Amino acid sequence: MKEPILVTGAAGFIGMHVARRLLADGHDVVGVDNLNAYYDPRLKQARIAQLETFSNFKFAKMDIGDRQPMAELFAAHRFPAVVHLAAQAGVRHSLIDPYAYADANLTGFLNVLEGCRHAGCRHLVYASSSSVYGANSRVPFRTSDNVDHPLSLYGATKKANELMAHAYAHLFALPATGLRFFTVYGPWGRPDMAMWLFTEAILQGRPIVGRLRQIRPGRIRLPIPRRAGHLGKSTMSETASRSR
Ligand SMILES: NC(=O)c1ccc[n+]([C@@H]2O[C@H](COP(=O)([O-])OP(=O)(O)OC[C@H]3O[C@@H](n4cnc5c(N)ncnc54)[C@H](O)[C@@H]3O)[C@@H](O)[C@H]2O)c1
Repeated sequence: MKEPILVTGAAGFIGMHVARRLLADGHDVVGVDNLNAYYDPRLKQARIAQLETFSNFKFAKMDIGDRQPMAELFAAHRFPAVVHLAAQAGVRHSLIDPYAYADANLTGFLNVLEGCRHAGCRHLVYASSSSVYGANSRVPFRTSDNVDHPLSLYGATKKANELMAHAYAHLFALPATGLRFFTVYGPWGRPDMAMWLFTEAILQGRPIVGRLRQIRPGRIRLPIPRRAGHLGKSTMSETASRSR
């Protein structure tokens, strides 16, 4: 492989699409993922099977929180560019398993930064999240808005990523671009997100029922399905923002 691009979270929803596009454009790609069970790993394996149809793709099953293997990966390939998408996603789940967020989103992110620093990466692109806007109420959100009030540990780790990347850009001249994704959906999407849950309910002929509450005049008022009922009283816009 010559000058491969690293895509972390390659078995994930966005990672698979990014890797597939890079491969189709003729780039060599190394994909990393730990195929964890946050949602059905068979979906993740099926995404990797898509990527393995390309001869210029190599997959490494690896946990980005593991310092030594990550250092070895970066030393072996000296990636010119890194697209970092691996993370423990999901807002609600951060109330249940906070350490998964610290391990993947903080330690894992630091391992990516260190790898980029020592292997001379020329550009790091990484996933942040609209969750950094937290308690902000002025819409539409702006990248210039203050984001000091995250409302979840997930949002806090994503904000931390932005700060960590800023420090490394300053200290080690590492060009870094953070992308604050909002609700990303489409083919091969995530089973924990509202679009999937709604579609599943419709296909199975189950009613989409839930409790209605208006957060603000003018906002969409859609019920959430019973299966997502553990999210409590919610509107669709709240539910979607909670499941990133
Ligand atoms: N989908 C959205 O709407 C959305 C919104 C905001 C931010 N994001 C962010 O975008 C990125 C991609 O999201 P996605 O929707 O594709 O999620 P996803 O869960 O489908 O993909 C993330 C992938 O990372 C892998 N992963 C998690 N922890 C890991 C670890 N410790 N080591 C190695 N691999 C690990 C998972 O197995 C998974 O395949 C994430 O950083 C997420 O936080 C997504």
